[in-house]
Amino acid sequence: MARRKLLFGNWKMNKTIAESKAFAEESKKLLAFAKEKGVDIGVAPVYLSLAAVKEVNPELTVAAENCHFEDHGAFTGEIAIPMLKEIGIDWVIIGHSERRTYFAETNETCNKKLLALQAAGMTPIYCVGETLAEYEAGKTKEVVKEQVLKGLKGLSKEYMEQVVIAYEPVWSIGTGKNASKEIAQDICGFIRELVRGEFGDVADKVRILYGGSVKPENVHDYLLQKDVDGALVGGASLKVESFKQLIENI
Ligand code: PGA
Repeated sequence: MARRKLLFGNWKMNKTIAESKAFAEESKKLLAFAKEKGVDIGVAPVYLSLAAVKEVNPELTVAAENCHFEDHGAFTGEIAIPMLKEIGIDWVIIGHSERRTYFAETNETCNKKLLALQAAGMTPIYCVGETLAEYEAGKTKEVVKEQVLKGLKGLSKEYMEQVVIAYEPVWSIGTGKNASKEIAQDICGFIRELVRGEFGDVADKVRILYGGSVKPENVHDYLLQKDVDGALVGGASLKVESFKQLIENI
């Protein structure tokens, strides 16, 4: 079964509401272009801009960059899933390495969030990846295996069909140091087999993205790999022109 290519922009803590709206306006053309090319696209703005982006371009897939696993309660500064649903958001990035590193996100909290998203029928992009020290110690597969198995624990086979996983080696994020296409294929293939081991042949439907210093110049090489179904892109997704080139070069 052919998996549709997916190109997702993670804007991180960038763009004001006004800037996000300007991108959303331009994204109408981007989306038409992506459709022509048979590529799915989406963006993840900060919470404050989610509603604005959705309003300007309701057709665009828009993800939150995080969420809480409880529906409401005493969690100062957090955003709950029903609040995202209320404004038409049905995708969420979970476990990005910056959240794991700076905000103490663990495989266990990611699992709670993924289970809550499953209950809400929303689509996650679950991020995994090893740090530089882990990479240098040859522990990539050990770390990724734990992140995948603990994070996805308890999800149903049916739900797995809509789960997106992103492999992002931490040492390659925002550093310009790309993982080679061989590494990307090796680990994305490894993740697919882990999913197969736990959930069976739905693994062939799960989209696995590579992320970390993806640019218009290298996106094609990654996408040629058989287990790489798309890219999660930070820096190069912020400008419309560069996003367009990413779509073009896929
Ligand atoms: P980058 O970020 O493309 O700027 O390396 C990727 C990510 O963090 O998702």
